[in-house]
Amino acid sequence: MKVGIIGSGYVGLVAAACFAEMGNNVICVDIDNKKIDKLKQGEIPIYEPGLTDLVIGNQNRNNLTFTTKINDALAFSEVIFIAVGTPMGDDGSADLKYVLQVAQSIGENMTKHLVVVDKSTVPVGTTDLVKQTIQNALDVRKSDLTFSVVSNPEFLKEGAAIKDFMHPDRVVVGADNDDAMILMRNLYAPFTLSNDRFIGMDVRSAEMTKYAANAMLATKISFINEIANICEKVGADVNHVRTGIGSDKRIGYQFIYPGCGYGGSCFPKDVQALINIANNHGYNPELISSVESVNKAQKEVLFSKLTSQLGTDLKGKKIAVWGLSFKPETDDMREAPSINLIKSIISAGGNVNAYDPKAVHEAKFYLKGLEVNYFEDKYSALEGVDSLILVTEWKEFRSPDFDLMKGKMKGNLFVDGRNQFKSDFIKNKGFEYIQIGVKA
Ligand SMILES: NC(=O)c1ccc[n+]([C@@H]2O[C@H](COP(=O)([O-])OP(=O)(O)OC[C@H]3O[C@@H](n4cnc5c(N)ncnc54)[C@H](O)[C@@H]3O)[C@@H](O)[C@H]2O)c1
Repeated sequence: MKVGIIGSGYVGLVAAACFAEMGNNVICVDIDNKKIDKLKQGEIPIYEPGLTDLVIGNQNRNNLTFTTKINDALAFSEVIFIAVGTPMGDDGSADLKYVLQVAQSIGENMTKHLVVVDKSTVPVGTTDLVKQTIQNALDVRKSDLTFSVVSNPEFLKEGAAIKDFMHPDRVVVGADNDDAMILMRNLYAPFTLSNDRFIGMDVRSAEMTKYAANAMLATKISFINEIANICEKVGADVNHVRTGIGSDKRIGYQFIYPGCGYGGSCFPKDVQALINIANNHGYNPELISSVESVNKAQKEVLFSKLTSQLGTDLKGKKIAVWGLSFKPETDDMREAPSINLIKSIISAGGNVNAYDPKAVHEAKFYLKGLEVNYFEDKYSALEGVDSLILVTEWKEFRSPDFDLMKGKMKGNLFVDGRNQFKSDFIKNKGFEYIQIGVKA
């Protein structure tokens, strides 16, 4: 099939590479000239495992091309995806300006029948808005071209995006006509060959499914973080409680790791957008609002653990931060808990030594104006520090050389925001070891 993807970010680029890998001819558009120039030269602007090989391989096979000209994609494609960002607006709603700009351009420039697919995460009703925007632009042109707009929310996880796209748990498509639904079924058939995981539904339900999925996952995280906080108060150990509840199949182990709050480009903005959608329809979503407020508070937990040991005045103190991205295997820094932590340490007068395997470049942008010392390896960042805080659970932090760490650090305080280790083991190594959800 001839596929156009508008927006070459985490979702658009992965979708483009994966559709191309299945033998489709794909053209990928972005308004960011630098990004497209890099992509044309085989340079991948984001870190996502497996993506480089897939993009370069398909470029070499001429299955995948990049452009800044939407007209090229509209002329080429039979199905065109909108995969641009929907960032959080000032009032917490999803900002639809990029989606609607694309819809306007499609209406102004399309030259043949198209199936337009909204893959961006958008509030219920947006697909109708996209349809109306395209139709209005066609009316201005006095054009009688036809088109369909369908909703196809994306569920991939950064860090495992290729695997998720190639082997999806499900493909959700909302469409109001059979032809578009059949086209989408065919496009996705290669991804669900072993058993059909294509779930067709009406447009509004598809749009809502994405928000409901993210709200559910965010709820699990805030739930276990709240349990962790109670554990600390009552002298229980959340690590035991987690395995105790996760073993119940109805609950499961996934997404019940205590930590320092969820971040990233999706959960914070999607939970907030869902609250906003509900409010706009006269409903007060109490549970989901609490998920959000528990998470906000949880992002401050590491700092309060640090100051409970070192005092609130951190002048003259040096703190190492291991892991900056919002989760491992990505360089994405959007809403990362490390940002809150580093800002708090610096405002309390402390110095920060930071290390991340992939996200330093992005971190420098998100922490612009703050004096942070960045290091190229995890051990150098520990030289002379009073404390180490582990924020993001990259694999290389799972089994570090504790003796080397101890030798480099001035102090022995180790605050673990991901409960990676057995407490007795670390204490035997001479650290004062603080976890989430365990009384210090
Ligand atoms: N990142 C994720 O893990 C993830 C997962 C599922 C769904 N989503 C949703 O997918 C959407 C895209 O997310 P993302 O993380 O890929 O965003 P992103 O910010 O990484 O990428 C968006 C891209 O769109 C481009 N763009 C903006 N306006 C454009 C225009 N008019 N024409 C062409 N390109 C344009 C930007 O330059 C950018 O490269 C969002 O709605 C997001 O909520 C993201």
